[in-house]
Amino acid sequence: MGKTQNWLCGECGEVFGKWSGKCPSCDAWNTIKEFHEARISTGKTKLSAGRDLGAAKNAVRKTEPQQRIATKIDEVDRVLGGGFFPGSMILFGGAPGIGKSTLALQIFLKFSEKTKTESEPTALYFSGEESVEQVLHRAERVTKKFGEKVNQIFSTSSLEDICETIAKNSPALAVIDSIQMVGTENSSFGQLSQLRENAEILLKLAKSTGTTILVIGHVTKNDEIAGPKILEHIVDVVLRLEGEGTNEVRVLSSPKNRFGSTLEVGVFEMRGSGLAELKNPSEFFLAERAENAAGSAIAVVREGSRNFLLEIQVLTVKTNFGQPRRTAHGIGLSKFHLLLAVVSKFTPFKCGEFDAYCSVVGGMKIKEPAADLAICAAILSSRAEKEISADTVILGEVGLSGEVRSVGNLEARLVEATKLGFKKAIIPRTRGKLKIPAGLETTEVKSVLELVKMVFKN
Ligand code: TYD
Ligand code: MG
Repeated sequence: MGKTQNWLCGECGEVFGKWSGKCPSCDAWNTIKEFHEARISTGKTKLSAGRDLGAAKNAVRKTEPQQRIATKIDEVDRVLGGGFFPGSMILFGGAPGIGKSTLALQIFLKFSEKTKTESEPTALYFSGEESVEQVLHRAERVTKKFGEKVNQIFSTSSLEDICETIAKNSPALAVIDSIQMVGTENSSFGQLSQLRENAEILLKLAKSTGTTILVIGHVTKNDEIAGPKILEHIVDVVLRLEGEGTNEVRVLSSPKNRFGSTLEVGVFEMRGSGLAELKNPSEFFLAERAENAAGSAIAVVREGSRNFLLEIQVLTVKTNFGQPRRTAHGIGLSKFHLLLAVVSKFTPFKCGEFDAYCSVVGGMKIKEPAADLAICAAILSSRAEKEISADTVILGEVGLSGEVRSVGNLEARLVEATKLGFKKAIIPRTRGKLKIPAGLETTEVKSVLELVKMVFKN
């Protein structure tokens, strides 16, 4: 049977009938490469990648009413929206060394605790990167009760073998580490088109067996392998594990989730015994806070259904020559530029001739504008060399005319701050009646200029 010829964009993963220099879908240049559909057979099950997914659709309809299966790792379940859906395919991405294999193994170990008989494994683990001994060695660090799992761990890079084993056992969960390291017999590893083929084969397998397939995918720092991006289109759920190189906090998020929210995050700490859930992330983030340091402010940031207290640090120093330098970790650089401009324009503290560095302590990334005012306060505090009182949280979105706007879920955020012992809050002017938690003193500000007075009043 002849192969169908297609063209695949390495940037956005779109497939076309003919080649072109510029991708019609994402406008990237020179990213379109030839791509052949793959067909492989695994014993009784015939699986083919490509466009004909009619059979798979039927399978989806059949599995939909099924219940989610919780991983029993709370931070993972929260991000997933309660657990895995049977028959779904999950891509688990992240930079090398961040802890993907470790967390995937922990999920596998939790899952296989449910095994009733040895002949009916509930979870299988396939590693194309490590030998069974290496996986076991890792498992040994994570848990003591791994011995009987030996039969459920395989070291193979053959997609045929993996498919056959999954089709034969129909486990609830199969982990594949990593999609870049598995391939069919007659294909070369690591190629874009091959990644896509592999993913489509696995997706079909997941739908037809009802097995949840968790595939690990590497992302290089500068996204050199566009692979995971292509895969994101195919899979049901994308999980991402991130962290700053120098500290142990790891944040799990879900940029794509067909079955749940994409807003929730799970927070872990990398320890000698694997990834430990951080039940009280705010406490952890604030633990090393320097007392009475200028340039530090506390924001309350909402991620999904939880509120985190995060320390924002800003350092401003007079520029020696040329253009001022600006860097930002944990917030977007353009946001930092914008807030520096607002502070310069609407307060007496000009920043134009100052280098400015911003960092969110603990490696969390702030995506919402509710931390704007705290960032402005940290800038002001550093410029004025005057510390903000340590028991104060600062909340508010800042507009381009220096006005302070309201934030959502203000009351819940204040409750969280009170729980952690904060006594004062600077908040946006509110029209309606607010339920302020007992013991918290609030001050309303309506502009960044007012913030200057409030922050430094004591
Ligand atoms: P790993 O899961 O292999 O990363 P990935 O699969 O994303 O490439 O984790 C790599 C790092 O984690 C490695 O530097 C060692 C460290 N680690 C611990 O600190 N504690 C542990 O218990 C384990 C298993 C790994
Ligand atoms: Mg790994």
